[in-house]
Amino acid sequence: MAEPQRGTGTSRRGFLRAVGVTGGAGAMFATMGALGLAPTAAYAAEKEAPFTAPRRGDFTLQGRGGKPAKVVVIGGGVAGLTSAYELGKAGYDCTVLEARDRVGGRNFTVRGGDAVTDLNGVTQKVTFSRDQYMNCGPARLAQWMVTLDYCRELGVPVEVFTNTNASALIYNESTGMKAPVAYRTAKADVYGYVSELLAKATNAGALDAELTADDKERLLTFLSSYGSLGSGYQYTGTEHRGFSVDPGAAGTPGTELGDVPSLSAVFASNVGRTFSFEFGYDQAMLMFQPVGGMDAIPMAFAKAIGPHKILTGAAVTDVRNTSDGVEVTYTRNGTTKVLHADYCIATLAPWILARTPHNLGSAVQTALQAVRPSQASKIGLEYKSRWWETDFKIMGGITETDMDLDHIWYPSYGHLGERGTIIGYYNTGAHSDTYSALAPAQRLERAIAQGVKIHGDKYRSELAAWYSHQWKLAPHIEAAWHSVPGGPDAPAFAPLNQAQGNVYFAGDYLSYLDAWQAGAISSARKVVTELHQRVLTS
Ligand code: ALA
Repeated sequence: MAEPQRGTGTSRRGFLRAVGVTGGAGAMFATMGALGLAPTAAYAAEKEAPFTAPRRGDFTLQGRGGKPAKVVVIGGGVAGLTSAYELGKAGYDCTVLEARDRVGGRNFTVRGGDAVTDLNGVTQKVTFSRDQYMNCGPARLAQWMVTLDYCRELGVPVEVFTNTNASALIYNESTGMKAPVAYRTAKADVYGYVSELLAKATNAGALDAELTADDKERLLTFLSSYGSLGSGYQYTGTEHRGFSVDPGAAGTPGTELGDVPSLSAVFASNVGRTFSFEFGYDQAMLMFQPVGGMDAIPMAFAKAIGPHKILTGAAVTDVRNTSDGVEVTYTRNGTTKVLHADYCIATLAPWILARTPHNLGSAVQTALQAVRPSQASKIGLEYKSRWWETDFKIMGGITETDMDLDHIWYPSYGHLGERGTIIGYYNTGAHSDTYSALAPAQRLERAIAQGVKIHGDKYRSELAAWYSHQWKLAPHIEAAWHSVPGGPDAPAFAPLNQAQGNVYFAGDYLSYLDAWQAGAISSARKVVTELHQRVLTS
């Protein structure tokens, strides 16, 4: 029953019907939003980052001064590219200095023909087949992230990235699991036993102080369905666990997976430890990826900015505020040059800026040094056949392990095709460091030996090509993401959240979305807005 509106005696449904009659569907929809019943334009606007892209016309609006300035952007990663792209819309003369040989920064996709040299001088030649690729850095976009707005604006096609899959596996070796278990099975058992316990406790009156009689009834109804409980609120298994023989034609009703482990065994296996991952605001399905590789985003940015405005292979060696602008020194092809500009946006890794000579002051230096590198790495394994699809019926998603490979990712592209590229480890922290200390061939061997425990011999025998990427060893980057103690608004980072003379700082580390391109974009937009306002009023 709809509740009467206070003071009018009109039910909400009746009220909406009346609005619909007099104002049409649009008015009804807006009114529903005001009543908290449907999203409205206001809700949508609130969700968007408050950003107005600088426009050429801003300089001619009455009462506003300035003219587009010259800006040098240090770093051609996503923060740098966003800065140059947005300022370029208003006619700013931007030059992007990128130390690596391509733009994108940590948005780094490798394909056959690439050769990647690490800081330690080791080069890996990538021999992936045509159409196979590996996103070494960012590989998934949440549907609410601003990154997708840029994909729309820049014409980058996207497809679904499968972040969770009921058919993917869980394997916790350290708990004594003898074989991997499918997510669907693990969830059925964990939810089943948790529901059983809660239902029994509720039924026995243990929660009577918390629940009304109606609450109690509703909770028991919910738990019975959620956990597929039988009589006496007992969990004895459910078709949610999956089938050993799938249902088919008449005469083949299917055979539910049997051998339901005991409650004690289920909790001892700790299979539930990763279930909350998919609830994360940044990790919940649906998620997306650009078609053909994540680097479609930096490529599209570079095209829109104008490739002539981007200098790759240009490593900055000095950053200086001057009385009327900035002076940025860089080395390219063995030649050292000085760029003079009105402003600088520094988007390079904070630890690299910290060891670059500058005159930005000791407070900036201390703040830069307070940001610490966090590590992650991946190995791409191209296989001659998509055995995970044919043999395991896994069409994308992630298998979770407690081995030091951490996660195995199945590709979200090329389904049903001939070949495919798995991410054989995506590990972080100490696990990543373990692999960074190994030569590439040893990394491969370690990853394969662990993967075989989950998937058997094809994990080794079907391998066609591979590439391992350790962010710790990536020149001009040196980490996957950042540790920012206390977050970007901690007082320690205040010097980086405001212009220091004519120098601004941007990057995902100065956002609440570290390790996401959306963080780099938001930080760049903040700085672009500040710089533009300053130019307009100067
Ligand atoms: N954004 C990174 C990921 O999703 C950390 O794996």
